[in-house]
Amino acid sequence: MSRQVPLVAANSVLGSLQELRSDTLGAYLRAQRTYGDVVRFSAGPPGMRADVYGVFSAEGVQQILASQAANFRKENAVYTEIRESIGNGLLTSQDEEYRFQRRMVQPFFTQRRVNGYAAAVHLEAIAAAEKWSASPDGLIDASKEMAEFALRAVTRILFGSDIDTAIDVVRRNFPVLGDSVLRRGVAPLRIPRTWPTPANRRVAAAQRELYEVCDRIIAERSAAGDTGEQDMVSLLVQARGEDGAALDADAVRDQVLVFLLAGHETTATALAFSLHLLARHPEAQARLREEVDSVLGGRAAEAADLDTLPYVGQVLKEAMRLYPSVAIMGRRNAEAAEVEGFHIPAGSDVYLSPWVTHRHPDYWARPEDFDPDHFAPEAEAARPRYAWFPFGGGPRACIGQHFSMLEATIALATFFQRFELTAVDHDIPVGLAMTMQAMGPMRVRVTPRDKRPQRHSAGARTEGQGAAE
Ligand code: HEM
Repeated sequence: MSRQVPLVAANSVLGSLQELRSDTLGAYLRAQRTYGDVVRFSAGPPGMRADVYGVFSAEGVQQILASQAANFRKENAVYTEIRESIGNGLLTSQDEEYRFQRRMVQPFFTQRRVNGYAAAVHLEAIAAAEKWSASPDGLIDASKEMAEFALRAVTRILFGSDIDTAIDVVRRNFPVLGDSVLRRGVAPLRIPRTWPTPANRRVAAAQRELYEVCDRIIAERSAAGDTGEQDMVSLLVQARGEDGAALDADAVRDQVLVFLLAGHETTATALAFSLHLLARHPEAQARLREEVDSVLGGRAAEAADLDTLPYVGQVLKEAMRLYPSVAIMGRRNAEAAEVEGFHIPAGSDVYLSPWVTHRHPDYWARPEDFDPDHFAPEAEAARPRYAWFPFGGGPRACIGQHFSMLEATIALATFFQRFELTAVDHDIPVGLAMTMQAMGPMRVRVTPRDKRPQRHSAGARTEGQGAAE
């Protein structure tokens, strides 16, 4: 006999609507602390009330993403909006269409293939570091810098030598589509896209410009045939299924746009918060620099260093625990389900939240503390698999996980070979856009390591250390 899910108490007029809108992450966190691991919000004005479920335990997450994945589908309003904005690529497609796409695309994300992208990532990391060296006041905004770095890295992997043709168009237009997906995805009523409102026209223009640049590069690559180019557009154009079928130009564009959407802000957020947290924690930063110095000794980081720099990996995982780029994931169940012994009716909107599960007191002793040793091998092995799931899990787990860990590891190694960082902004408010974002400046002081103040005595401190904690 399954149990009824506890209802989160709320305002009698709009239910939990206001709270879910203005402070989604806070609302989920408080609900878990007050009601437990499976909760129900009722939101909206009378007559338009809708139930929203939250599932927060590692076991519940495992059931939804893995063991009951076939029933929990990508069918909510946000996924619909993504399909309509950038096409139905790997992130949103389902069933046979999804299986076909995943078979076609998987070979480009194997470890061997992804390792081949390391040099391009290193090139972009060096370019970012050179820019910082030239900064007159030594101050950078970590979220802006990492947004630009991650955009350049993924655009270079996708478009190769055409990066400069594509990057301005992407930088200008992607945010317009992202805002629209978000706004329309949570709106109770949506104006049809065909109506000529200013917002609809802006979105249509952004979509047109983005499609045009992708289509042009795809057509050029198709016409050129197999030239040995290893950028992902070339690989997608050359790809053949088991029956010899190719992806048509629209399908290639759908995948390219999905990789841009899924692979840019996510990695940027993970890196920005890693820099911020290291800037606030000089002892963790010193340990990271020691590892980087002793392993690399000044040489460039490469793919194999994912294994030789374990502490860099622990820092990244801990930053993604506290600040998961995808802080909420939604599903809708086709049939009634039982999750953690609770009954969830068919057709429910069910949300998982790494933000909440990553702070769950059952899995983390001091959930709010930054402690990369949360990811020491023995600590990791002692936790349930889904206590940490920034990349999702089950059959729809992130295909870019290895790539983003490689990219972020190379970036951190390259930056800390050259700089010491100290935090200027300490408390960073966060909010939900397409991914989780810093809602204020994230300034960090970068001091070139060859110019940093010398320590003259055991008690002396380097500049800024006193203010950093
Ligand atoms: C730190 C970086 C990243 C994070 C935190 C992240 C997170 C995620 C998450 C949580 C999902 C599952 C969404 C769900 O189940 O609803 C996902 C799926 C996906 N991600 Fe990532 N991602 C990252 C980087 C990337 C990169 C670099 C790429 C590609 C270049 C990428 C491409 C995708 C794709 C295509 C999917 C859909 C996979 C499928 O359904 O088969 N991601 N990602």
